Amino acid sequence: MSIRLRLLFSFTGALIVTVLLFALTGYLITVAITGDVRSFSDFYKTHYKLNPLTEAEERIFLELKTLVKTDPGKLMNNELLADYDFQLRMVQAGLYLRKESKLLFISPSLHAPELGAALPNYEMGNNAIRNTFNVGNRFFSYAKYDFTFPDKERGSIFVLRERSPFAEMIRKLLPILIGVLLAVLLLTGVLLFRFITRSIIKPLNGLRHSAERIKEGDLQFEVKAQGNDEIGQLCMAFEDMRRRLTNSVQLQLQYEENRKELLSSISHDLRTPITTIKGYVEGIQDGVADTQEKMDKYLNTIHTKVVGLDRLVDELFLYSKLDLKKLPYSFETVEASRFLEDVIQDLQFDLELRGVHIAGEFPRREIQVLADREKLRRIVLNLIDNCVKYMDKPEKRIVVKLTEHADKATVEIRDNGPGIRPEQLPYIFEKFYRAESRESGKSGSGLGLAIARQLVEGHGGGIWAESEWGEGVSVFFTLKKCGGDES
Ligand SMILES: Nc1ncnc2c1ncn2[C@@H]1O[C@H](COP(=O)(O)OP(=O)(O)OP(=O)(O)O)[C@@H](O)[C@H]1O
Ligand SMILES: [Mg+2]
Repeated sequence: MSIRLRLLFSFTGALIVTVLLFALTGYLITVAITGDVRSFSDFYKTHYKLNPLTEAEERIFLELKTLVKTDPGKLMNNELLADYDFQLRMVQAGLYLRKESKLLFISPSLHAPELGAALPNYEMGNNAIRNTFNVGNRFFSYAKYDFTFPDKERGSIFVLRERSPFAEMIRKLLPILIGVLLAVLLLTGVLLFRFITRSIIKPLNGLRHSAERIKEGDLQFEVKAQGNDEIGQLCMAFEDMRRRLTNSVQLQLQYEENRKELLSSISHDLRTPITTIKGYVEGIQDGVADTQEKMDKYLNTIHTKVVGLDRLVDELFLYSKLDLKKLPYSFETVEASRFLEDVIQDLQFDLELRGVHIAGEFPRREIQVLADREKLRRIVLNLIDNCVKYMDKPEKRIVVKLTEHADKATVEIRDNGPGIRPEQLPYIFEKFYRAESRESGKSGSGLGLAIARQLVEGHGGGIWAESEWGEGVSVFFTLKKCGGDES
């Protein structure tokens, strides 16, 4: 059964139970007040008709009836009438005696001059002897007996009792009150039903549609939450799940793409030197290298290619270990200026021989950073290696600069080489990416910066590059200072 149907049933049920309980309460109250176990609807219609008088009044009425039947002439005796009036007054009732249309006696306690006109006419058979009537907004119940005076004139004797105006008002208003109550209950039920349907069923339907779209593989939509209630929170959780699912699918696709690229790059980078080596070895076998000089040249080329392959395999191995996060780091406190100074000094001799001038710019203060020495050295070497490899200016300059910040230190390695085109800049840290075409003559696998990025991230830092095409490149990376916790 749908929630909508269940709600409809429960609201209707609540409505019916309320009305039944209301009717039952009304009935029980009536029974408690009147002691009469008849239906509530009959109460006002017939109660006063059948029992217009109380027991005491009824007794006096019967006495009067017997008197009238046996000796109606006695009713002309005013003293007797006053006596009966007295008895009736004691029980809050009154007496009215009529001869034809003439008033013979009326209890002073009734205080109703227009009463005569409202009283029913003479009726021979005495069929309706008990009933009620109104005089203005006053309500009376009575018992009547019609008879004939000895002089053959028609007489009627009434025992009357005035009912409370409140009871009369209730009698008139009760159907309206019940109608209004039912209408209010019905309206409340309908409004509540609409409210619940809008606030629960609609969002739930939305979620079901979303789940169906996800099942069909469509993740490109947004689940909007209305409000912060349970349903709103459910929508938010659903939207969060959809977003994560989208990200993970995208990541999966990205991984798949990377894997394909990696395979094709590795096969390309392996095949080229292997083809060359194969060609030279076949040349030697075929006796093409007939002089010692040619033989040396062939062997040298083979050696260079094998060294290149060896280096490529080493870098691939290192990169895959970094990628799988299998390379352990042994962090220690390192004084950054001294460390960089040492690296520069180690390289300086070789670089000067190749006409490259390298210089350091360090702050006076000591800067303690958290680093794995060996890996930090590898980062710096990879970056300097690029500066030297791609340098195209006659005056070759490299600057290693260290800057201190609140919780980190930034190392900048700057050269005055050819620079990198802005459109290529975002990709240089990706594995196998080479801005230089593979045919440019500069050897390399495109792993140097990818390895540097993995290592910097392993230190909890960030790496980026800035470049002006034709003017040089600056590669920056950050290191956590000891005690700092942000990169
Ligand atoms: N200092 C630089 N000047 C100019 N271009 C650079 C510089 N550093 C990096 N690049 C460009 O970024 C690309 C990626 O560099 P990366 O170090 O990752 O690979 P590689 O140097 O080609 O190969 P590997 O370092 O693995 O031998 C390079 O191919 C080069 O085009
Ligand atoms: Mg490189």
